Amino acid sequence: MDYTVMMPAAGSGKRMGAGYNKLFLELEEKPILIHTLDMFEKDPACVGMILAVKPEERVQIESMLERFAITKVRALVDGGTERQYSVKMCIKAHEASGIVLVHDAARPFIHHLVVRELVEVAAEHGAAIAGVKAKDTMKYVQAGIVEGTVDREKLWIIQTPQAFQFDLLQKASDKAEAEGFLGTDESMLVERLGHPVRIVESTYDNVKITTQEDLVFGEVLLRRRR
Ligand code: CTP
Ligand code: MG
Repeated sequence: MDYTVMMPAAGSGKRMGAGYNKLFLELEEKPILIHTLDMFEKDPACVGMILAVKPEERVQIESMLERFAITKVRALVDGGTERQYSVKMCIKAHEASGIVLVHDAARPFIHHLVVRELVEVAAEHGAAIAGVKAKDTMKYVQAGIVEGTVDREKLWIIQTPQAFQFDLLQKASDKAEAEGFLGTDESMLVERLGHPVRIVESTYDNVKITTQEDLVFGEVLLRRRR
């Protein structure tokens, strides 16, 4: 089943500490942004991508797309000051209905099988998000004192992609905007509508490249996949 990708790429990568957008850092001589785009470029079910970028990085990104032969990017929209606003700009630039997949540009290791399942579940039920089961023991802590242990069976670590029927995502995003609600993922916005969001089990290697050590992990993953 066909889908469109909405990809926020307008962050500044503060925790990486490179002094510039971490998505321009290279793994095996290819920018992280291109690794992520390439996953969808290669998936025949992906019919287009909308990318949110910083206005001052637009020209650099356009030339990168050309150099690495990324052809499915339909629009580069201006990102916002928060990730949610960047995704909002993608939503505003999209007209068709159907399934959309919101995916962080900083997660280059998503598997096609997970994408396919997300799209199928979202087509049937409206909303599906990628996640993995928590492996560690999790506790509530208040001012340095343990207050209790969370039931790990019910805990999932949530990633992107997150797949939605476009109309549902649009409605959720409009409501959040009208009410000034800021979430950390798009699922939160859909949850606020009272619409059930399904989990699709993903893989632990779908990491978000965030800090320096993630680059080491990324190099190892790429080598293993080759
Ligand atoms: N992002 C965005 N617009 C923002 C903030 C983030 O489009 N205002 C994007 C990032 O480019 C990234 C994704 O959202 O692809 C996930 O964000 P994160 O991993 O937090 O990246 P940064 O915000 O760039 O990093 P940091 O939080 O360390 O500054
Ligand atoms: Mg951030």
